[in-house]
Amino acid sequence: MAKAQQRLYRCQSCGAETSRWAGQCPHCDEWNTLVEEAAVVRIPKGLKGGTSSTLAFTDLTLEAHDQVRFKTGISEFDRVCGGGLVKGSLLLVGGNPGIGKSTLLLQAIARLASNHKVAYISGEEALAQIKMRASRLGVSESPVNLAAHNNMREILATLEGPEPPEIVIIDSIQTVFIDNIEAAPGTVSQVRACTHELMRVAKARGLTLLIVGHVTKEGMIAGPKVLEHMVDGVLTFEGDQGHHFRLLRATKNRFGPTDEVGVFEMTQQGLSEVQNPSMFFLGERSEGVSGSVVFASVEGTRPLLMEIQALVAPSPLSMPRRTVIGWDQGRLSMLTAVLQTRCNLTFHDKDIFLNVTGGLKIQETGADLAVAAALVSSLTQTPLPPHVVVFGEVGLSGEIRRLPFMDLRLKEAQKLGFTEALMPSLGKGEEKFHLKIRSLSRLSNIRDVFKEISREQ
Ligand code: TYD
Ligand code: MG
Repeated sequence: MAKAQQRLYRCQSCGAETSRWAGQCPHCDEWNTLVEEAAVVRIPKGLKGGTSSTLAFTDLTLEAHDQVRFKTGISEFDRVCGGGLVKGSLLLVGGNPGIGKSTLLLQAIARLASNHKVAYISGEEALAQIKMRASRLGVSESPVNLAAHNNMREILATLEGPEPPEIVIIDSIQTVFIDNIEAAPGTVSQVRACTHELMRVAKARGLTLLIVGHVTKEGMIAGPKVLEHMVDGVLTFEGDQGHHFRLLRATKNRFGPTDEVGVFEMTQQGLSEVQNPSMFFLGERSEGVSGSVVFASVEGTRPLLMEIQALVAPSPLSMPRRTVIGWDQGRLSMLTAVLQTRCNLTFHDKDIFLNVTGGLKIQETGADLAVAAALVSSLTQTPLPPHVVVFGEVGLSGEIRRLPFMDLRLKEAQKLGFTEALMPSLGKGEEKFHLKIRSLSRLSNIRDVFKEISREQ
């Protein structure tokens, strides 16, 4: 007969199980993440015998009640959700501690409270703390049902009760627990089991649930990674603690597009929407400085202009420094190699510092040409004129490739008063913009283009 209980060790980072403790997880190679848990060994009953009912099938026609969405009126938030929160869905909002998840969700739920029955359940903060935050945000009068609680038994009883709230926030999934699971709150088994239960209730009762999940580096608490496959959508809230702006990204969405981005600014009265993010990110740009380039990026479907700064300086070191903030270090190595081979520029005896201002992190490959322009500008001490935007992907043979949404980038640049674009060759319909276009097909031409631009100034 099988043993009813044995011990097992579960990695708090990737969720893998091992029967023996080790300092390093054999699956994801993270250190100190294995935690002992009670394993319930299920004895298979077999499928013979017993009674089971058959499935009730339906067709693919969409019913009106299948597509109810709740709009918060915070347009950046609604857009990232794909046009509002979907009835009967479970959304995970992840992010570093202190980034502003509770603030954002309290603001969103307070807006929804005027038309819907909503609840905010916090396992992290005391009622007084949440009330103080609400008064700071100016939403104290909103009819939000507030509770500070972390036992899932009562939370589920409320959600499955006679008149449950339509929209509920659980802040955070790492603080709630199911009392018959022998593991501390925040461990993989608790977090998974709680999410599973919440998912079941959301689907069965048609409730909209938002759960907060902290991203953790140490791995002793399970992060949102373990839950991503279970939930309907994942919104990540990110930003730099030293800066005021915050980005809300949809990294998974079963009911809308992913890669949408919402931009917010953290103020004294909570998060406010940034209507014109390009203006916001270029606000502190100093013009006429070598190494500074404006990159026209697209985040999701949203054009965003940002400044890239490079500083190339002679290095006393045998292994020169390469410091990159906000971009991929590997791509910088590739780009310097291409610049060295295809354009005869020397970087092997130079330190390179690259920075995307405002604490932004570029994720698309379209920044290659802008970074190359910043490097060449700093190396040759030639400032680019302030009215030029740059974008394009660079290949290993030095060819410049086209990017998606080129017209969106040009439109945004034109809106903000830029008059010239250094970019890959133009496509159909893109010539209608009132910008002087300098198309580059090969990176080897970059020095000539620089000379031409600075001569014309
Ligand atoms: P919070 O929402 O508690 O973060 P999280 O839930 O992600 O852990 O936000 C905490 C930070 O936000 C805190 O450092 C203070 C700052 N903050 C403001 O700057 N203005 C505000 O109006 C509020 C409510 C918070
Ligand atoms: Mg919080």
